[in-house]
Amino acid sequence: MIKIKNIKAREILSSMGAPTVEADVLLENGVMGRASVPFGASAGIHEAHILFDNDPKRYYGKGMQKACRNVNNVIAKALVGKLVSNPQKIDEILIDLDGTSNKKKLGGNSILAVSLAAARAAAQSVDKPLYKFIREKYKLPYKEWILPKPMMVVIEGGKHAAKSTDFQEYIISVCGQASARELIRWGEETYYALKGLLEEKGLSTNVGNEGAFAPPGIETNEEPLKLITAAIKKAGYSPGKDIAISLDPAASEFYEADEGRYLLKREHAALSSDQMIALYDEWLTKYPILSVEDGLAEDDWSGWSKMYKKLSSKTRVIGDDLTVTNKKRIQKAIDEQVINAVLIKLNQIGTLSETVEAIQLGQQHGFWQIISHRGGGETTDSFMIDLGVAVNAEYFKVGPSRGERTAKYNRLIRIEEELGK
Ligand code: PGA
Ligand code: ZN
Repeated sequence: MIKIKNIKAREILSSMGAPTVEADVLLENGVMGRASVPFGASAGIHEAHILFDNDPKRYYGKGMQKACRNVNNVIAKALVGKLVSNPQKIDEILIDLDGTSNKKKLGGNSILAVSLAAARAAAQSVDKPLYKFIREKYKLPYKEWILPKPMMVVIEGGKHAAKSTDFQEYIISVCGQASARELIRWGEETYYALKGLLEEKGLSTNVGNEGAFAPPGIETNEEPLKLITAAIKKAGYSPGKDIAISLDPAASEFYEADEGRYLLKREHAALSSDQMIALYDEWLTKYPILSVEDGLAEDDWSGWSKMYKKLSSKTRVIGDDLTVTNKKRIQKAIDEQVINAVLIKLNQIGTLSETVEAIQLGQQHGFWQIISHRGGGETTDSFMIDLGVAVNAEYFKVGPSRGERTAKYNRLIRIEEELGK
């Protein structure tokens, strides 16, 4: 029966050098849980609200002091003295306290930091690793631990890297059968093989937000598919069998809603939804593609419906900006039959409990779950990995380099060892 003694938030720096929120939840037994939250560069418009200060004198308006004050004053007042053991209860209080549908009042950034820090403190109090605590508390029905496989972003463009591809992410999905640490090794070796191929072509190997290569001078949005297929072979793996390719065009970012057109600068082309779908369909026959995420814009529902009909027997159709880890949007995607996999990002919805509910809804329909990092600002917090392990997620998506990304891989390597695998 352990109670919360104090809650404190502060502005810390994210991987982009811009602020984000970190919260400490201190318990009466002396245990302290700490968590920090990431944010997207190409966030969907239906995501939980991020509360910025909008004070141009600090961090060009991107400060998060207001969000921290909300934690230290409003949220602390509501939670101090409450039992910490049940994350569902804590999240219920947080959701009620905010009272809006998208956490506009207190900010998804304030609420999530506390939700995660409280869960971590509660897990530590009963001496359980976070992934075990989550599985038990949410009564998740799995007996075995099936660790998520890596989706490693290896080339990035769009909002994540100026002057690279229009498409946001080219990902290697390490789909073979081996331990997590081995699959991670396969992925990193392929990343380095790709580096060699880029160098041979005289292309830059500087990295973007997510630690993936972001070469200006790539001529088409198709070229990375050729390079990555070659890199998989060069590293000694079998394309499609050991390692496949996943695409995240993040199509909302280059959609012209008025015209109903997708603008591809590399190709000097403006494509309709039908033409985008035909392009993916053609690529599916040419390259070992495992999944297509956000292939169309977040509110192009009629396009999504056609895309699902055409592609879903050949590949996983993933919703990210479309579904934003929100049960209502996932339900709409179920009703309209437009996806068979969901990207999961804790900060899209803003509490641990709502995230777990979103995952369970998708799992009831056989959707793959892909737990994902954010491309805007990340932190070294690896909560997402514990979540992925707790729910037996099929994949987790993280960039291959930079400390805030490798922290996630390293957490999984440690969990695997702890589980004696
Ligand atoms: P974001 O991008 O975190 O910048 O939104 C990642 C993604 O779209 O998957
Ligand atoms: Zn995405």
